[in-house]
Amino acid sequence: MSVIVITGGSRGIGASAAEHIAQRGLGVILTYNAHPEAAAKVVERIEKAGGKAVALKLDVSDVGSFEAFRQSVVETLHETWAVTTLSGLVNNAGYGLFNPLATVSEAQFDGLFKVHLKGPFFLTQTLLPLLAENASIVNLTSATTRVATAGVAPYAAFKGGLEVLTRYMAKEFGGRGIRANAVSPGAIRTELGGGLNDEFEAMLAAQTALGRVGEPDDVARVIAMLLSQDSEWINAQTLEVAGGYII
Ligand SMILES: NC(=O)c1ccc[n+]([C@@H]2O[C@H](COP(=O)([O-])OP(=O)(O)OC[C@H]3O[C@@H](n4cnc5c(N)ncnc54)[C@H](OP(=O)(O)O)[C@@H]3O)[C@@H](O)[C@H]2O)c1
Repeated sequence: MSVIVITGGSRGIGASAAEHIAQRGLGVILTYNAHPEAAAKVVERIEKAGGKAVALKLDVSDVGSFEAFRQSVVETLHETWAVTTLSGLVNNAGYGLFNPLATVSEAQFDGLFKVHLKGPFFLTQTLLPLLAENASIVNLTSATTRVATAGVAPYAAFKGGLEVLTRYMAKEFGGRGIRANAVSPGAIRTELGGGLNDEFEAMLAAQTALGRVGEPDDVARVIAMLLSQDSEWINAQTLEVAGGYII
């Protein structure tokens, strides 16, 4: 049985991805931070559909907790699936913050850094010994790395760093057959950064070749594909999943 870990699986893109991955027959360890009840509902939906999932608590900004998290993953793999390795890791957890570059505080900068770059770096390092030969790593970045969007400078800069880090993961883990790719969504209808209002959504849709904003499923299917054998020759890439945003 192949089992993956996805961070931030309680809501939004992560919740949808957890369901799509489980539909493809993989076991899913999904993490939550502030919303255990939302994570429990995702597990319930997956199990109703015939899949298997376990929700674990993880704050990706707290590197000091990662070793204990790895122990929980080892125990969960053994108790739930009777396996010892992971076939994939999705670094998805994140949050948005709108503040012009001129007024971003050091605390806001550090908070975004911990969740969007430092956390994925050290979580991947911590779980690396558990990743099987031929495992797949997927890092969630953002189309704001390509298109400068006023108000999200530190967020976009750290997502850009994560895209570079993705190539280094591919380079340094390739000897074990482990692939690493980034998925870079455009505007997706989730609660990130407070969600979309009608006016904002209309503007984003008008800037998108396909004429709408994305849904979590649009991104979730690509994440699931990158964890599957269908993509086994895709490596070290950033796939923008944005319907043709500002092209
Ligand atoms: N939505 C978009 O338009 C968009 C565009 C480009 C990129 N992205 C990226 O896609 C990823 C998913 O975003 P989303 O839109 O699905 O967001 P979302 O709906 O707000 O969900 C965020 C998820 O991340 C988790 N999370 C937040 N902070 C965390 C922390 N410190 N530690 C652990 N988990 C944490 C949340 O868990 P709890 O609720 O349990 O706290 C939740 O499961 C993010 O990396 C985001 O930057 C989103």
